[in-house]
Amino acid sequence: MIIAIDGPAGVGKSTVAKLLASRLGYLYLDTGALYRAVAWKTLRSRIRPADHARVATLLPTTSIHMQFHEGAMQVLVDGCDVTGQLRAPDVTAAASIVSAIPAVREWLLPIQRQIGQGGSVVAEGRDIGTKVFPAASFKFFLDAAADVRVARRHRELVAAGRGDSIETTSHDLSARDQRDRTRSIDPLVPAVDARFIDTSTLSPDQVVEQMIMAVSTGS
Ligand code: DC
Repeated sequence: MIIAIDGPAGVGKSTVAKLLASRLGYLYLDTGALYRAVAWKTLRSRIRPADHARVATLLPTTSIHMQFHEGAMQVLVDGCDVTGQLRAPDVTAAASIVSAIPAVREWLLPIQRQIGQGGSVVAEGRDIGTKVFPAASFKFFLDAAADVRVARRHRELVAAGRGDSIETTSHDLSARDQRDRTRSIDPLVPAVDARFIDTSTLSPDQVVEQMIMAVSTGS
């Protein structure tokens, strides 16, 4: 059983996906972490994320593994645990850029599907319902008003000890959104059979309740 959750940054996807996975006893698959891992390797190799050809040449000699232990996920790049570095601002920006490279998306596809074969999974990303798991049992697409998403992302950054201004956060979020929604391959769009949830005025628990209701009634 696969539950797909897609949506832009700042809609509360990760919080909701983690909560849902823990309520159902499912594995939580954060597919953004895989794009972030490729971005990490790109920056570490001193390659410009927008240099499609050079990023693509990195892939055959790169290994990315996800390990799951008691609900926590670790990402290993070439055997090295990089989990703690994946949410740095430069990696965040680079992840959005490398995610537009077709070779990167093709390379990550079997890795995601293989994790999905492991059993019951809540998978979160941008193209889960449309591309990675088009036959997912349940698909949700989350969205929220732009100012709400900016405020949420800003709170997260402050909680993580980063002092970005609200203006910088807003600028970064809309640049990333624009790239994720308009890239030529697997752009962020709702699957035709996804259930849409506007999270603007809902708490994570309220969103999860809606999802559990839909899953348990099959509606
Ligand atoms: O969900 P996130 O913020 O960790 O994702 C980082 C970037 O990775 C995001 O800007 C777009 C990309 N991404 C993607 O293209 N497809 C996915 N399934 C997940 C993430």
